[in-house]
Amino acid sequence: MKTIGYAIVGTGYFGAELGRILKEAEGTKIAAVLDPVNAQTVAAELGCDVETDLDALYSRDDVDAVIVATPNYLHKEPVIKAAQHGVNVFCEKPIALSYEDCDEMVKACLENGVNFMAGHVMNFFKGVRHAKKLINDGVIGKVLYCHSARNGWEEAQASISWKKIREKSGGHLYHHIHELDCVQFLMGGMPKTVTMTGGNAAHQGDEFGDEDDMLFVNMEYEDSRYAILEWGSAFHWPEHYVLIQGTKGAIRIDMCECGGILKIDGKEEHFQVHESQEEDDDRTRIYHGTEMDGAIMYGKPGKKPPMWLHSIMKNEMRYFNGIMHGETVDDEFRPLLTGEAAKAAIATADACTKSRLEDRKVKLGEIVEDSIVSEELKYQEE
Ligand SMILES: NC(=O)c1ccc[n+]([C@@H]2O[C@H](COP(=O)([O-])OP(=O)(O)OC[C@H]3O[C@@H](n4cnc5c(N)ncnc54)[C@H](O)[C@@H]3O)[C@@H](O)[C@H]2O)c1
Repeated sequence: MKTIGYAIVGTGYFGAELGRILKEAEGTKIAAVLDPVNAQTVAAELGCDVETDLDALYSRDDVDAVIVATPNYLHKEPVIKAAQHGVNVFCEKPIALSYEDCDEMVKACLENGVNFMAGHVMNFFKGVRHAKKLINDGVIGKVLYCHSARNGWEEAQASISWKKIREKSGGHLYHHIHELDCVQFLMGGMPKTVTMTGGNAAHQGDEFGDEDDMLFVNMEYEDSRYAILEWGSAFHWPEHYVLIQGTKGAIRIDMCECGGILKIDGKEEHFQVHESQEEDDDRTRIYHGTEMDGAIMYGKPGKKPPMWLHSIMKNEMRYFNGIMHGETVDDEFRPLLTGEAAKAAIATADACTKSRLEDRKVKLGEIVEDSIVSEELKYQEE
């Protein structure tokens, strides 16, 4: 088997773990890492070199692909430079904090003929894939409505992470783009219009960032289909779920009481959200324990992800490494590799931002060309 050389740009909480996972994968070698603060420690652990300049990193003969896991506002430069050097790209979510940047990054990869993969982990949840199959098989009929919630309570912080600064993370809407991407994946594309309300209800002051702690998104699809998504850190009753209502039945994917339920003809059928019951139970334990309050846990350099997340990261890296070894992209994950999922998620997030700033309902056609929106809607009708 050919050896693929990987570089990692940004070796904090997520980048370091993706590196550990790739080091153990088949046909891989971690060539070098780049991070202004944490490169030395992670390089020592992974047994690789440290580079301090992107051009030097991407010019190395032993770098075929890069994992970009910098803070959200710093994804663009390492992705575009990688593409220009012919280096394949896996980029963490949210890919960018504007549709324009996201489009430019995806285009750079396409134009330079390198692979691009968006790190949208929810697509790798066994429970999400099961729900999509039930929908595709017509089990719950036509999907009429989705409702997602990712809520918890945030206490005062000793120091403020970039994850809490709107300009750097994009706030809950962009940083926790998972549910928006997942709902679009389940409903088959972007909505026609969105409305977003919300604000900072209970977290002003020096011990907090400047992001909104309550966000409520209303998505309207053509043909009378809807979705409501909520996020925030001002909720003492934590919730984390995606609920899917169809004409024949319904599905609930719950990440707090971790498990999936298909409800049909008055009967309930249970399925796992993650790879094993042990992983689901561990996630439930974490939500009920003291390690976090609600769905707003944040990692930091040096911290290890929980069991369920490690397992999904492993699946995600196995998939990307498989593509790098010449495996074909299957239909299920194609939107992650064409840039469609990344662009659709950021376009909708931008429309939501515009809606809140301008206090009005916003058409997706104001962010992306109408033809792109109707392509997405056509995809949904198939
Ligand atoms: N998919 C998921 O579930 C998930 C979970 C956590 C984080 N993430 C994503 O991973 C990315 C990283 O998040 P994290 O939790 O590891 O954050 P983090 O703060 O732990 O790590 C970020 C790292 O990037 C480094 N860095 C800063 N500027 C840099 C630059 N210009 N070049 C190279 N490195 C630089 C920092 O020193 C730090 O080590 C983010 O995009 C985040 O949204 C995804």
